[in-house]
Amino acid sequence: MAKILKDYPAISLKQEDLNEKIDFTRIFGRSGSVHIEVGSGKGAFLLNQAKAQQDVNFLAIEWASKYYRYAVDRIGRWGLTNVRIIRTDAVDFIARFVPADSIECFHIYFPDPWPKKRHHKRRFINSANLEQLMRCLKKGGAIKIATDHAEYFQQIRYVLSEPGNKLEKIDFLAPNGTNEGEWVGTNFERKYIKEQRPIYTIAARKT
Ligand SMILES: C[S@@+](CC[C@H](N)C(=O)[O-])C[C@H]1O[C@@H](n2cnc3c(N)ncnc32)[C@H](O)[C@@H]1O
Repeated sequence: MAKILKDYPAISLKQEDLNEKIDFTRIFGRSGSVHIEVGSGKGAFLLNQAKAQQDVNFLAIEWASKYYRYAVDRIGRWGLTNVRIIRTDAVDFIARFVPADSIECFHIYFPDPWPKKRHHKRRFINSANLEQLMRCLKKGGAIKIATDHAEYFQQIRYVLSEPGNKLEKIDFLAPNGTNEGEWVGTNFERKYIKEQRPIYTIAARKT
């Protein structure tokens, strides 16, 4: 029998309710650091991190309706108040609604690798999207990325190290709340660890 997923309006943010750059203090009902997770899937990272870092405000952006609904239900059942989730395309949403110099960290874990060459243009990490992430990051804010896809990882490293983008590489540290042996604790990471696939990580901060 299909699981009944409940909507929690305090957690699910609706794009139709937004018409200008987001006021995070209003959205979260408090001030504080804002982290964005792009492509949050079923919300495993979000759940662990929202519990482990209750002073941080987490905004998750997920395109797929079934994962978005699953994550809203999951976070809602835990009664966490420091999470908002929106079902939309992160590319358009970040460019239109996220204010400049507002984000402490972007988490991008196991982004779709689009392995066929003719689909590479759909990959999230590219120069144009990086420009938007840089616009939104606070000075000293970080971008953290993990993938199992070696060739996409090369592209990611290349894009992040392009001259003039004001990023400095930092160590990728697993945040508090992740299990032993995990970098981030997402569903995909857990699946890939079981399959013994290599996992590549990179982190950089805005200088
Ligand atoms: C391979 S899954 C990884 C999910 C999760 N991060 C994990 O590691 O378990 C990639 C996720 O990103 C979402 N996604 C892909 N492109 C997106 C976009 N442009 N905006 C928002 N979500 C996106 C997909 O729907 C999918 O849930």
